[in-house]
Amino acid sequence: MNVNGRHYRTIWLNTDGWAVDIIDQTKFPHVFETVTLRTPEEAAHAIKDMLVRGAPLIGVTAAYGMALAMRQDASDAALASAYDLLVKTRPTAINLKWALDEMTRVLRPLAAAERRAAAYARAAEIAEEDVAINQAIGRNGLDIIRHIASLKPGQTINILTHCNAGWLATVDWGTATAPIYTAHDAGIPIHVWVDETRPRNQGASLTAWELLHHGVPHTVIPDNTGGHLMQHGLVDMAIVGTDRTTAQGDVCNKIGTYLKALAAHDNGVPFYVALPSPTIDFTVVDGIREIPIEQRGGHEVSHLTGRTEDGRIETVEIVPRGSKVANYAFDVTPARYVTGLITERGVIAANRGAIAKAFPERAAQ
Ligand code: MRU
Repeated sequence: MNVNGRHYRTIWLNTDGWAVDIIDQTKFPHVFETVTLRTPEEAAHAIKDMLVRGAPLIGVTAAYGMALAMRQDASDAALASAYDLLVKTRPTAINLKWALDEMTRVLRPLAAAERRAAAYARAAEIAEEDVAINQAIGRNGLDIIRHIASLKPGQTINILTHCNAGWLATVDWGTATAPIYTAHDAGIPIHVWVDETRPRNQGASLTAWELLHHGVPHTVIPDNTGGHLMQHGLVDMAIVGTDRTTAQGDVCNKIGTYLKALAAHDNGVPFYVALPSPTIDFTVVDGIREIPIEQRGGHEVSHLTGRTEDGRIETVEIVPRGSKVANYAFDVTPARYVTGLITERGVIAANRGAIAKAFPERAAQ
């Protein structure tokens, strides 16, 4: 993404060659600020407090967190304690554990003296793999958008998305946004309905910011609007991301995704999930029973932060003191409501056979 005349990814090595720079997403959309991570503790804090968020970016930050740990101390004990520190930061997105397991698989057999260089190298590869995966998801999703565009020649394709599964949630391109950017760049007229995504407003503050910077026409809508739009033929397809997809194709994503899938099903609107393979958890089958759902602090529900007319960032309380609040961060959409999974290896059905066939090497592990 070009910001202030410079091309950015969401995570990169600092010019000193070992620290890691990120964009502080808690400041969006009003302030674009980068932060340097120098220790595994700082990487853990960035994930837990959501300076970085989105399943793939959480995974890559954790991988670099392991590299920062190996720079300080490359012993077996340090490897294990960095893993424990980082894996506890957020419970739902499986990319976190996937990346930490991958780093451990590569580092554990090595002598301590070799671990530091190997850790940085594998973390950089995981970041590059994420970019390549998202570009492939973009190409595969483009085929679907092209097909829908062929059914309404000359008309704008309206795509609904929830939360931020965009550039900011990954290293580059995004997952759900990759087909959108690819189609827009190919000249297909696209308009995106952006669910604001309470309580943290990732749609309003992150996805809208991205689409604006990429020049994609879009409209931010309150979360409950999608069903009404679908009933009136104003949504051609939905594309969302996922934090964890089970072996049978159940999709865990930001809270509210399930209700959009239900509305899409009721109105015959295709509901696609952009799924990079590190987000598949083959150890889990029934998403509703088996995926741990993160519950976050009530402050995110009871308060809102924004910019005042005179440019100050302020937080205000919107719930009466004394009322209880609940903050479930994710929900599960059963596979039966998913039209297709847009993966780096093509668009596949959301069922056990299709997923195992597309990723046999992962399914067999
Ligand atoms: O709580 P967040 O902001 O990390 O949640 C992000 C999402 O729900 C995304 O849709 C998901 O991680 C997929 S990102 C490509």
